Amino acid sequence: MSILTVNLAENSYKIHIDSGSLYSLGQHCVSAGLGLRAAVITNPTVKALYGDIVRRSLAEAGCTVSIVEIPDGEEYKNAETLSGVYDALIEAGLDRKSFIVALGGGVVGDLAGFAAATYLRGIPFVQVPTTLLAQVDSSVGGKTAIDHPRGKNLIGAFYQPRLVQIDVETLSTLPEREFRAGLAEVVKYGVAIDRSFFEYLEQNTEAICSRKPECLAYVIRRCCEIKAQVVESDEKESGLRAILNYGHTLGHAFETQAGYRELVHGEAVAIGMVLATRISVRLGHCSEADAERIATLITRFGLGVSPPPFERSRLLDAILTDKKNRDGAISFICNQGVGNYAVEQLLPEKLLTLSGLEV
Ligand SMILES: NC(=O)c1ccc[n+]([C@@H]2O[C@H](COP(=O)([O-])OP(=O)(O)OC[C@H]3O[C@@H](n4cnc5c(N)ncnc54)[C@H](O)[C@@H]3O)[C@@H](O)[C@H]2O)c1
Ligand SMILES: [Zn+2]
Repeated sequence: MSILTVNLAENSYKIHIDSGSLYSLGQHCVSAGLGLRAAVITNPTVKALYGDIVRRSLAEAGCTVSIVEIPDGEEYKNAETLSGVYDALIEAGLDRKSFIVALGGGVVGDLAGFAAATYLRGIPFVQVPTTLLAQVDSSVGGKTAIDHPRGKNLIGAFYQPRLVQIDVETLSTLPEREFRAGLAEVVKYGVAIDRSFFEYLEQNTEAICSRKPECLAYVIRRCCEIKAQVVESDEKESGLRAILNYGHTLGHAFETQAGYRELVHGEAVAIGMVLATRISVRLGHCSEADAERIATLITRFGLGVSPPPFERSRLLDAILTDKKNRDGAISFICNQGVGNYAVEQLLPEKLLTLSGLEV
């Protein structure tokens, strides 16, 4: 088992990465000092696959377990679903010594994390991510949120989990589309932060796409290491952490306006990254050759690189509502070639022009 630590003083926690680690979840929760009453928040899809394993593991470690189900889909990551979760937690009698287990992808993780951050002014929670995206990104770092009709993740809190337990085997049941969407976040780390990781991805594309377990374990470990380092240096996103938003400004805008079923998060991020490379080329941060290299890797991972049809005013509105908006200008993350980043303050109109979206 790989064990990483996210060092955040009294909010520090471990990330366990292993095959089959769902079976020992209960033991690890007890070792992490969590209480003996747990609510597992999950959705029907993930519950059918892994709900029993998790319930049994927690029960064998001596925990009383309630299962709280939320509907499957980004469109349910909202205030109404959250309210139902609070009802269920109160009904189940969870107190401040109890803990929440977020079992699922980023939607479950974000919503369950926000429920944990706010229920009784905060109770401990554990992330058990089951999508590639959640294993390499959303389960680490303590960003929790729900969406608002005006935009994604507009309501949330920074609230760190007490443990992240990653079972690489859960990826074997992940639909191909979701797996590929997760690869977009993987590419993000390579492009904006780590050139040698980007090269590893180029050299191992086939093995990754065929989900070779050793390759996946390495990819997940490296992404978690990078994310942990970034979060350790800037837990609440006052500066450096914003680099993790690479590809997300335009990605979120397309995601919001396309409707959540049309484009899943990672697919939108892939398009956002390709547009970010165009902007980076035009601002002199990236060569045409590097932009091409990035688009090639994204394509080899089976992700689309062309933006879907959009309405200019709605896209601008979505960009402006994005929480990175400051005084009308957007802090936009460019890639400095491959493996580094640069930040530019850009007005949304300028951003659209530079990205080539208006040509
Ligand atoms: N908090 C953060 O730092 C952060 C970072 C990135 C993304 N996010 C958020 O994450 C969300 C996207 O997460 P996601 O891509 O994991 O989507 P998701 O949670 O919707 O999961 C995708 C689909 O896969 C299913 N699924 C999950 N695990 C499975 C498994 N092992 N086998 C079969 N099916 C499985 C789910 O039921 C769902 O239908 C977005 O809401 C995004 O905003 C948050
Ligand atoms: Zn993302």
